Amino acid sequence: MVEHLGKADWQDPERVQGMVRSYNERYPEAFWNALLELIGVEPREVVAEFGPGPGLFLADTVSKLQTKKVYGLDESESMLKQADEILSCVLSSDNYILTQHDFNTDAVALEPSSVNMVFSGFFLHEVDNSQSIILQAAQSLKPSGVCVVFDFVSGNEEAFVRVMGAHGMDEEKARKRYPHMCKHSVDDIVQFMTEAGLKPTGSKKIRETAAIVVGLKN
Ligand SMILES: C[S@@+](CC[C@H](N)C(=O)[O-])C[C@H]1O[C@@H](n2cnc3c(N)ncnc32)[C@H](O)[C@@H]1O
Repeated sequence: MVEHLGKADWQDPERVQGMVRSYNERYPEAFWNALLELIGVEPREVVAEFGPGPGLFLADTVSKLQTKKVYGLDESESMLKQADEILSCVLSSDNYILTQHDFNTDAVALEPSSVNMVFSGFFLHEVDNSQSIILQAAQSLKPSGVCVVFDFVSGNEEAFVRVMGAHGMDEEKARKRYPHMCKHSVDDIVQFMTEAGLKPTGSKKIRETAAIVVGLKN
């Protein structure tokens, strides 16, 4: 079997802590400024994240997007345990729902038309069927809700190698990971959104290697 180099062991406690440690660098000020520019400053009351990992983005939505309730769906029990710890500091237990869910095998998890925003960060490249993820997001959104994908994108291998190098990864390893971790271009993600019936409303590159792409549910 060919090793999937973009696929990590997300149960490993060291991976969980790695995601926590790298959060501020992966979600810098530029990310939040671009996100608010793309989706507007109106409150996003209910937010779901597909693949939230340790839940730091969801925790930040409380102060940055005036979110009152969040859903996090992730296959890793260790990640969800960490997310529970983090989210319990900012929301009451009724207002965060964490579910162990494998997007490659499990059926749609959220009620149709139930959330104002579906976010996925550094997640889309992980799953087998990206189109079905965006379709599930579209179905879960209320009218005027937004689907936001933030992920590594293809098109600049040198920048990817540079950014991974700054995180301590050697060049050979980074080049091997490039095709898996930068699986989609911005245009691919826009296409997934269009196919899912969403209206792509904008995108923005972050640190040359990643992009935010937004689709609106009419
Ligand atoms: C790179 S981490 C990103 C975590 C978080 N979004 C962040 O940016 O800090 C990818 C996450 O996706 C989850 N994941 C990977 N494949 C998955 C699948 N098939 N179903 C559900 N979650 C999955 C992993 O457990 C992990 O928590």
